[in-house]
Amino acid sequence: MDAFVTRSLDEIRFWSRIMKEHALFLGLGFRAEDTQLIKEAKYFQGVFEDIERRSYDYTVETDPATIRQFNLEVQNAATNIWAFKRMVLGLILQCKLPGATNFPLLVDHISREANYFRNRLGELNSGTLEPLPDAIIDENVFFLRIMADHAKFIGHLLDPSERKLVEQAREFSHDFDKLVFQAIDLSSMRPQSQTVPLLSQFVDENKVSVESLRDFKKTARDLIEECRIKSIIHPLLADHVFREAERFLFILDMFDRSLSGHKVNKREILH
Ligand SMILES: [Fe+2]
Ligand SMILES: [Fe+2]
Repeated sequence: MDAFVTRSLDEIRFWSRIMKEHALFLGLGFRAEDTQLIKEAKYFQGVFEDIERRSYDYTVETDPATIRQFNLEVQNAATNIWAFKRMVLGLILQCKLPGATNFPLLVDHISREANYFRNRLGELNSGTLEPLPDAIIDENVFFLRIMADHAKFIGHLLDPSERKLVEQAREFSHDFDKLVFQAIDLSSMRPQSQTVPLLSQFVDENKVSVESLRDFKKTARDLIEECRIKSIIHPLLADHVFREAERFLFILDMFDRSLSGHKVNKREILH
């Protein structure tokens, strides 16, 4: 079994579905007359649908050289959708798409996710994945901000008459903004902050908040699915942000396990 192949396929299967859905959301947010932009969004939907399908044709037994080539191709597609998202952001911020319904922060957010995806593929191909103490901080800085954004999107896309839920979303937004700042503080205290006790407390604390946000998203997703609440949230978007929280939790669990393996020798993590 090849860790490079397993890891590559895992990233591609998760993120290509995400990229495909971003293209769908972008397309839905354009105005009817933006036919060229709608066409381009549809094009990316097809590109990532194809990548997602092909990723399931490969297995852990596939030749690493084949996967390396596939990674390159996907990285290129991720770069292209990233550029498209940034271009759209520019149009929105210059007020060239009045009446279009994707928030600038949402477009920036999905471009950050594309950037994360292409970086990850680059790291896998060049064999330069970060050492654990750096990965713990960087992944948290990235994902906590993603979670904070999600809470904001949910809060703004729920109908204003859903006062209780809007209030809950706002609380999550505040909670995660604070966690983002804590993560940035820990980051700026590097490398001295990278001790096992500090990192494991950091991971544990974040995990508690992400679990509770994940549960909130799951509830919202189910309520939207069953048409029990008023909102302009696409059911697929509700599921999408839920899956991203699950992804973050999966990464946090991985860090938790790696850190507990290091508990015997606390200095070991400091190279
Ligand atoms: Fe996303
Ligand atoms: Fe997201």
